[in-house]
Amino acid sequence: MTGAITTLLASQAAPSSTPPPIWLMRQAGRYLPEYRALREKAGSFLNLCFNPEWAVEVTLQPLRRFDLSAAIIFSDILVIPLGLGMDLQFTTGEGPRLNPQQLPAILAQGFDAEAKEVFLKKLAPLLSSIAQARQQLSRDKDLIGFVGAPWTLFCYMVEGGSSPHFSQAVEFAKNRPADFEKIMDILTTAVIVFLQAQQAAGADIVKIFDSWAGLIPSNLLTTALYNPHQKIINALAGNIICFPKGIADIPTYQHHTKARVIALDHHQNMAQMQKKLPPHIILQGNLDPHLLRQGGKAMVDATSQLLQDMKNNSYIFNLGHGIDKETPIENVATLVNLVKNFS
Ligand code: CP3
Repeated sequence: MTGAITTLLASQAAPSSTPPPIWLMRQAGRYLPEYRALREKAGSFLNLCFNPEWAVEVTLQPLRRFDLSAAIIFSDILVIPLGLGMDLQFTTGEGPRLNPQQLPAILAQGFDAEAKEVFLKKLAPLLSSIAQARQQLSRDKDLIGFVGAPWTLFCYMVEGGSSPHFSQAVEFAKNRPADFEKIMDILTTAVIVFLQAQQAAGADIVKIFDSWAGLIPSNLLTTALYNPHQKIINALAGNIICFPKGIADIPTYQHHTKARVIALDHHQNMAQMQKKLPPHIILQGNLDPHLLRQGGKAMVDATSQLLQDMKNNSYIFNLGHGIDKETPIENVATLVNLVKNFS
């Protein structure tokens, strides 16, 4: 038996009127009291990620409450810079902190055999979480592994944390093309190695989060977005969901990368986009997380519309971005039931 998403991605034919599979970005997280309790016990977010027993527990929490089609392994996109030797901290209220002064050393070393060995050793607990989560999860649920895409990782590594425009990263990419290319190569290889290791550990599906793709200057789209995504897709067997967040021209992105499963953010119109893409392309998304937080009629209407619009397509229901931490649990339950009972 396989999970509903794996089954959907393996079938050639368009679906009959069965409800689409559903999972939610950041489905394990601060809107759940049981997450907050374990997070407090762990002391820090990274302690929680790097303790397989806790990480598995958090991964499975949302599936105990809701009939979701998949679990996503509990971790973060910024574990790749950590594995490459950058210090990483998460401070409450401020988000992630990295040390950009360590970037030249990473550039100088490259992703050689030694760097790869250190990398996989550092990230080994995350691979144990995947193996254990897969064992504990019933076979009819998919397990999703993930990474941050090279461009988004580059943004955090240069900027040292979150930023509205990541202007230092954009300037670096524009003004230091040789170093930019080198760091993108290192990150692309690290992403491939880590995703292959996640698949080997038991991830049924993997997802590439390019959260800041929308900030890429148009003359850098090939080096920062299309080429790295295409290389990653080419190198991997199995199912990959690509999330080039903020990219409006998805058909061009699809043409260059040959991505088969693409997640859309909530600024896109799902049904219109589907019509512009080749018929074998499968979309995921894209309810506005603010509607889930609000709940009520607005949420029900938007969800029903989305389900109706996408009902003759192979489609995975999700949000356009992660669940907001203020989201009432009842709203999530209502949403999942609505999707599950759609016919
Ligand atoms: O989706 C899931 O349930 C799986 C786990 C997951 C987390 N982060 C857990 C997390 C996933 C897939 C991510 C991806 C991630 N992390 C992205 C890409 C998606 C997006 O949001 O665009 C990005 C950009 C990050 C980087 C990151 N991690 C930031 C900027 C922050 C701080 C902001 C915040 O919301 O606090 C994090 C922390 C983080 N990652 C939390 C969780 C549950 C909150 C930390 C806590 O509990 O203290």
